[in-house]
Amino acid sequence: MDLYEYQAKDLFAAHGVPVLPGSVAQTPDEARAIAEQLGQTVVVKAQVKTGGRGKAGGVKLAETPEETKAKAEAILGLDIKGHITRRVLVTPASDIAEEYYVSFLLDRANRTFLAMASAEGGMEIEQLAVERPEALAKIAVDPINGVDLAKAKEIVAAGKFPAEVADQVAEVLVQLWQTFVGEDATLVEVNPLVRDPQGKVIALDGKVTLDENASFRHPAHAELVDKQAEDPLEAKAKEKHLNYVKLDGQVGIIGNGAGLVMSTLDVVAYAGEKHGGVKPANFLDIGGGASAEVMANGLEIILGDPDVRSVFVNVFGGITACDAVANGIVQALQILGDEASKPLVVRLDGNNVVEGRRILAEANHPLVTVVDTMDNAADKAAELANAGV
Ligand SMILES: Nc1ncnc2c1ncn2[C@@H]1O[C@H](COP(=O)(O)OP(=O)(O)O)[C@@H](O)[C@H]1O
Ligand SMILES: [Mg+2]
Repeated sequence: MDLYEYQAKDLFAAHGVPVLPGSVAQTPDEARAIAEQLGQTVVVKAQVKTGGRGKAGGVKLAETPEETKAKAEAILGLDIKGHITRRVLVTPASDIAEEYYVSFLLDRANRTFLAMASAEGGMEIEQLAVERPEALAKIAVDPINGVDLAKAKEIVAAGKFPAEVADQVAEVLVQLWQTFVGEDATLVEVNPLVRDPQGKVIALDGKVTLDENASFRHPAHAELVDKQAEDPLEAKAKEKHLNYVKLDGQVGIIGNGAGLVMSTLDVVAYAGEKHGGVKPANFLDIGGGASAEVMANGLEIILGDPDVRSVFVNVFGGITACDAVANGIVQALQILGDEASKPLVVRLDGNNVVEGRRILAEANHPLVTVVDTMDNAADKAAELANAGV
């Protein structure tokens, strides 16, 4: 999960990284009030989860509260690389003597962590990496040893930071590393880290990506989720502990187990080529225990997607046998009643398949078609989606 700048800075502050004060506003009047409270020249910054806000007109200086209001008015609603600005951060304007770059990230290719640092920050780091790779130091960080002051000094030296800020930057690196580890992040980045004319080093921007697999360790992170920006069906699925992903086709897909679901996506996309180019609309992994309730929750979410024209339920019975899954489907359709309005193609195989198919045949639900093989079922689902029922 990517965080907004203001959220990243809150985490930085909690771990001692020097940041400027500031608050977030959703309206121009709120922005004006914050500027009034700060009582100095401020910067109004678009809060969107993408970089390059400065260049896109999303970072503006304002000398008075009235000007802050006007700048906020101009920035709120601004489209920055496809992200609509809903909030602005109002923070003191800092005089900048120099701009630097520091980050920690997960280096998947080398199975370790990586520190990146440069005394030439401010500009887009991708550009620096291409144009002057020697100016961007990349230092591997051992996950066991982490970043202590000695390691931080090694990074500072490699990044060619000026001597007068070396100690401060090293300290910031240790605090940033503590943010990285303590919050279970996969990225913390400061661009720019600045030196002000008084010689103080401050993080003026912040980017943090949290590892959602670790969210169980951080109950407080739940508050960082932007409910407004979340897909409502994905939010509902998450609430019910289901893995649901929205795609852009027309065939809803429910399966048990990530591997089966992935291959189901492939066969549906392949079958769709013969049926007007229909594609998977989404996919939902109901996992191992396909009880009636899980199946009802899953179907409710899939059918709640207005793009879905047919649903393919592809289940391989294992610990949860096919008869239990079949009962789950039948009961789920009862629970959903009129909410279930799109054709369902069901393919069952594996443990107790004969009984499972018998249960579905006996229920004889008008929306359900049982097909024996995965390929034929995918074909049927694609055909029904193309018919646009
Ligand atoms: N509080 C601030 N005071 C003065 N200048 C700022 C402040 N925040 C940002 N800036 C300037 O705006 C530039 C862009 O802001 P930044 O937060 O890095 O956004 P982005 O990386 O999305 O463009 C910075 O490089 C810096 O020069
Ligand atoms: Mg930046």
